[in-house]
Amino acid sequence: MADERRPITVAAIGDLHMKEDEGGRYRELFARASDEADVLVLAGDLTDLGTVREAELFAADLGACSIPAVGVLGNHDHESGHVDEVCRILRQAGLHILEGQSCVCDGVGFVGVKGFIGGFGRRMLGAFGEPEVKQFVNASVAEAMRLENAMRTVKGMPTLVVLHYAPIAETVAGEPPEIYPFLGSSRLAETIDRFEVKAVVHGHAHRGAYEGRTPGGVPVYNVARSIEKPSGRPYALIEI
Ligand SMILES: [Fe+2]
Ligand SMILES: [Fe+2]
Repeated sequence: MADERRPITVAAIGDLHMKEDEGGRYRELFARASDEADVLVLAGDLTDLGTVREAELFAADLGACSIPAVGVLGNHDHESGHVDEVCRILRQAGLHILEGQSCVCDGVGFVGVKGFIGGFGRRMLGAFGEPEVKQFVNASVAEAMRLENAMRTVKGMPTLVVLHYAPIAETVAGEPPEIYPFLGSSRLAETIDRFEVKAVVHGHAHRGAYEGRTPGGVPVYNVARSIEKPSGRPYALIEI
């Protein structure tokens, strides 16, 4: 079916890493993104250590955002073991946190999952050997399955997938090769390519590359804050 709606503009950024002495740092960024886009998308690592205080400061800055905000958590948001409280504070501030769910804004489906690590392509870690290795790989497979289940809820809709970890190696290029397996997993791309997806955004690879494609041809953007973007802004501006 032809997609005849007016495209929407998404402002996407990850890895803001709010610290306890940085309250107010992102107010201007959120206000400006609200002027330039229809939806704000946050690709995880919203806080630096996942503390309740950092979440409160992030939530206060989000008050400057006047458009719908959708996001996933990153590994840093898990660091202090207060994920439930961090989520509660951010949700109260209006952020739609997606942990294997979807939401719809302006006719576009947003599907979000944190993802996990494990490596890429033929060198991806397999579930072989010690129980610890199998457990690790199971965590990666479980994230891909959560993504798959959420994708089914937006069938037939133009969809943006929001991740923290990278689904392809191309957008982590620039990072030391030794840490590629800790930056994402191809299992996410395998899932994405089984559905109709307009684009994917992720963060986590602070020194990676902005743009790549899944093996099936879906555009993937690394929107980590430190990555230079064609928009000339700290956030990417993507039409969906
Ligand atoms: Fe990060
Ligand atoms: Fe991260």
